[in-house]
Amino acid sequence: MHTILFITGNRGKFLEAQRLLQGFGIMVEQADLDIVEPQAETLEEVVEKCAKEALKMLEKSFIIEDSGLFIKALNGFPGVYSSYVYEKIGCEGILKLLSDVRDRSAYFMTALAYGEPNGEIKIFTGRIDGEIAVEKRGAGGFGYDPIFIPLGSNLTFAEMSIEEKNLFSHRAKALREFASWFLEHVGK
Ligand code: IMP
Repeated sequence: MHTILFITGNRGKFLEAQRLLQGFGIMVEQADLDIVEPQAETLEEVVEKCAKEALKMLEKSFIIEDSGLFIKALNGFPGVYSSYVYEKIGCEGILKLLSDVRDRSAYFMTALAYGEPNGEIKIFTGRIDGEIAVEKRGAGGFGYDPIFIPLGSNLTFAEMSIEEKNLFSHRAKALREFASWFLEHVGK
């Protein structure tokens, strides 16, 4: 059994990762380090900068991730600003911005970095396409979960259990990529 740290202050993200990675025999511990999210053009750039900061603070292998919601009718907004926008206007604000919009296509994306004390950083991504619901639905999950319906389901992420969300989600896809690579290259 391998143990790595997942650097996040978000318990929901941690629980999703824990559930998924245990299926690969990888244990995760949550570490809530004080890393300020830098501004950058892409999620990959953001997470690479975060991972470099984390390397200075840790002597253990870790993962860290950054996610965003990209809405087609808003030219990809909120994207890398998803966290700020959520704090300011929440799901309600997004629904208002889309009140007259028929094409509600959107996708979630995660960029996940794995870091090692020797300085190595490797980045994985995952994306799920879907659409923005017309109203909030469901009590599970976190963030934009109540308004995102992944392709292949009629439920919002907030109406799903962690296991169901993991069948679809951007984060689960990035985590699976990571886990396969990790077991092949590091974890044997
Ligand atoms: P960050 O990765 O924590 O910076 O996430 C950016 C914003 O998107 C935050 O407001 C999160 O709550 C939200 N977010 C990230 N991942 C998800 C998800 O899987 N579902 C719903 N919202 C998410």
